[in-house]
Amino acid sequence: MTNTLHLGRVLTFDGSPFDNGPDVAQYMRRGAILVSGQHISDIGEADVLRARHPNVEVQDHGDLLLMAGFVDSHVHYAQTGIIASWGKRLIDWLNSYTFPEEARFADLEYAQTVATTYLNLIIANGTTSFCSYGTIHPASIDAIFHATRERNMRAWAGKTAMDRNAPDNLIDTAQTAYDDSAKLLSHWHENGRNRYVITPRFSPTSTESQLEAMGALWAEHPDCLMQTHLSEQVEEIAWVQSLFPNAKDYLDTYETYGLIGSRALYGHAIHLEEREKARILETGAGLVHCPTSNTFIGSGLFDMKGLVGTGHRVGLATDTGGGSSFSMLRTMATAYEISQLKGTPLHPAELLWLSTVGSAKVLHADTLIGNLSIGHEADFIALDLASTPAIEQRSTRAEDIWEEIFPTIMMGDDRAISQVWLAGTAQKV
Ligand code: GUN
Ligand code: ZN
Repeated sequence: MTNTLHLGRVLTFDGSPFDNGPDVAQYMRRGAILVSGQHISDIGEADVLRARHPNVEVQDHGDLLLMAGFVDSHVHYAQTGIIASWGKRLIDWLNSYTFPEEARFADLEYAQTVATTYLNLIIANGTTSFCSYGTIHPASIDAIFHATRERNMRAWAGKTAMDRNAPDNLIDTAQTAYDDSAKLLSHWHENGRNRYVITPRFSPTSTESQLEAMGALWAEHPDCLMQTHLSEQVEEIAWVQSLFPNAKDYLDTYETYGLIGSRALYGHAIHLEEREKARILETGAGLVHCPTSNTFIGSGLFDMKGLVGTGHRVGLATDTGGGSSFSMLRTMATAYEISQLKGTPLHPAELLWLSTVGSAKVLHADTLIGNLSIGHEADFIALDLASTPAIEQRSTRAEDIWEEIFPTIMMGDDRAISQVWLAGTAQKV
């Protein structure tokens, strides 16, 4: 097993800054992490670790900030090609741009090409794990999981189920969605670092019998996550009401079919009713905030402080390609702007925690990824806090680490990502 001691500035979390303030972040001006094989085996002050591990290879990253790689907890990798498509709100956006593009994933070769492009883009942006929707085609999942396996990247994904309100070439059935998902699950779940996610797209594109089939599959595989969309736009919520006239609310359309629980992930969750918030809290389900998508498609302002303050578990995500960026830095910047519009600004420590530990927690993987800690998988990045002249002139006058990091959060992009490691192996960025 190879042992490498990485020296640099080091940032880790000892708890949640939402609960205990920014001081739960541990910052070492001259820190070190020891990577043994694929895992972190020691962490501490550079001098201490150098003395404790005198005979290992040393890589000195100088002033770069070593921290956990970003975890993007809600994406549609198959929408890579239509990111930044102009002028539509959710339902028109799906019909005009998204569905025609997703239809192309019947072709495995096309899916493989997009999977490679997507992984290159996100790794260059410092994202080391993600949770993706596929398309209805099993090929979309084979393509992305082959690509992540090749790179030894920890990833979650699932075939999207849709049996109504989509074009004919994007429709499966309750039975085929069950059969195809079950087959993909048995092949890919826990295959390398991959995990399968049961994925009904959202209530408007599934009949009751398909939601029931997805609920049955999840009951048979309760260790899997289940992901879907919830209360993203007001028109969507009205549509759900008309399709499910007997449902108490949007969440009830899932709950009725067993699609609720601590391993459920609901993307967006902007316009929640009080009953929905209470049920989500009771069941321990996770919410995923997708800020650049919510501004880009015009969905609304997520209530981060309100929801986290009442004990909800929340992750952060790009929602590529409804989201307008592959970068979790840009995603944090927009989360900050939304929090300002809500009158409850997020601290840089909270933003960094959401994009690493918070996302890992909603994925039930915070003992594996999302932090630099002994025993964790060595997915980490080296961040340049002076990557452009605009950022540098601001960060050099900073009086503490948060003031130094914040310009990179607000103005940084892939130029700030100097190096990326997946399970201890340096990637080309
Ligand atoms: N709701 C259902 N499907 C989608 C999707 O692909 N993107 C977004 N943003 N919302 C959705
Ligand atoms: Zn989505």
